[in-house]
Amino acid sequence: MVLKAKERGIPDIEIGARYGISFSYLQQIITDAYGVNISVLKGPKRIKRWEPKNFSEETTTVWSFKQRGDWATHDGRYRGNWSPYIPRNIILKYSKPGDVVLDYFVGGGTTAIEAKLLGRRCIARDINPGAIGITLENLNFIPPRHLFSEGSLPFYEPEVSVGDARNLSDIPDGSIDLICAHPPYAGIIKYSTNIAGDLSKCSVPEFLAEMGKVARESLRVLKPGGKCAILIGDARKDKHVVPIGFQTLRVFLDAGFILRELIIKRQHNCKTTGFWYARSIKYNFLLLAHEYLPVFEKPMVRQTSEQIPSWEYTFPHRSLAERVRTVEEESLETTTVWIFPPECLPAEIKRNLLRRFAPPGGVFVEFQFGKEIQELDILPGQVPSLIYVHPPHELADEQAIAGYRNAIVKIAQQARTFLPPGAFLVVDVKDTRVGPTLWPMGLLLWEDMTAQKEFLIKEIVIIVQARPSPGRSEEHLEIVHRYLLIYIRK
Ligand SMILES: C[S@@+](CC[C@H](N)C(=O)[O-])C[C@H]1O[C@@H](n2cnc3c(N)ncnc32)[C@H](O)[C@@H]1O
Repeated sequence: MVLKAKERGIPDIEIGARYGISFSYLQQIITDAYGVNISVLKGPKRIKRWEPKNFSEETTTVWSFKQRGDWATHDGRYRGNWSPYIPRNIILKYSKPGDVVLDYFVGGGTTAIEAKLLGRRCIARDINPGAIGITLENLNFIPPRHLFSEGSLPFYEPEVSVGDARNLSDIPDGSIDLICAHPPYAGIIKYSTNIAGDLSKCSVPEFLAEMGKVARESLRVLKPGGKCAILIGDARKDKHVVPIGFQTLRVFLDAGFILRELIIKRQHNCKTTGFWYARSIKYNFLLLAHEYLPVFEKPMVRQTSEQIPSWEYTFPHRSLAERVRTVEEESLETTTVWIFPPECLPAEIKRNLLRRFAPPGGVFVEFQFGKEIQELDILPGQVPSLIYVHPPHELADEQAIAGYRNAIVKIAQQARTFLPPGAFLVVDVKDTRVGPTLWPMGLLLWEDMTAQKEFLIKEIVIIVQARPSPGRSEEHLEIVHRYLLIYIRK
């Protein structure tokens, strides 16, 4: 009955209500019946246009596509597929016509469609034969001549097959120009029920171990200097974030990749009003509204993260403490992406932190990196409920980065002596670039803090200044986001 209703095109929410089943059970019924997790049971749509309207390449580190993109055969039929704007941007930035693009988690074929339209060779794989069937259906088009006319793009039909991303043994070493892929986020969406090796059946630790194999194979098949872009998101458990994004980043760095960009991809399917607003406030959690898109590079000479040196350096800082003032009743942020105009950005960060994480009358301590003082300045008898560590002005080189990391660890060590259980420590931090290498400061501080056993990560918030200036550098994206790493004292 459920499948018949689905075939008749009845919306999922109505099917759920009619037959008393949850959304995940509905997905399971569909996946069992069709061997693949699809949202709409119909063939590819009729093509209305071949390219996105008014397209221009992204220039900053925050990517946001309000419309997912519906040119060529792109649609939302394959559950959890990515917006075609993502592979289009990645392919245009990091490859040239005729280059070989590999997507080993191709799902419904989004990357392969873009590679075909943009004149790149493409190797497209997925462990699920059902997904490969949909990819082939979606690739069943002949692009118009004007895309490939003289002096313009070459034309290549993608090579599509069933395959396992952990074992690319039939692809020679150093033969791929670009990897552009979107794995399952561990078990958040189940893509099959009985296919061995489907990473969507893994727990988070299993997933990270298997992604280690994928990362090592990726490094092997890429040409030196070749790029590897991976979209990955976090999960939530017991009202705390599970940072699968940072953990996957670490897996690829440990495999020997260098990080070139760390892009934040905003998600627009979050419910932020009514019922969800009330829940988010009542249970004090933020709805996940961002994913990470790291762009790695295979080094010319193999390098591992162990070779990154660490320096002894004391970062000077200044601190101040103040009583919480009464703040007006205004609506609060409910998702993990906070966007404020530049003129009220510091005030809005503070207001949201105070209202969410500091009880009325609690003590809010701000910590700013400045010139002289070395200790946190807590007045006698004060019990802070929230410490907010501002970002440093500039991290110009590797020594400054190492010094800043030491300073944050010292602050956490001091803070644990006087923060009561349930109080919060918030670190505001921005990724930084030293030469061409991107230092993922959010990830590095999260790792340093994970060693501080008294603190548990509660939220990772992305802060973006509204109306960011357009990216200036041709070579790199402009970094326009920061992270708030929000910890709770155990
Ligand atoms: C998030 S989806 C990819 C969606 C794709 N970007 C699109 O736009 O359609 C992840 C895909 O990884 C596939 N997958 C899971 N484990 C795999 C493995 N070991 N090797 C290859 N593909 C795998 C799943 O079948 C699923 O299609």
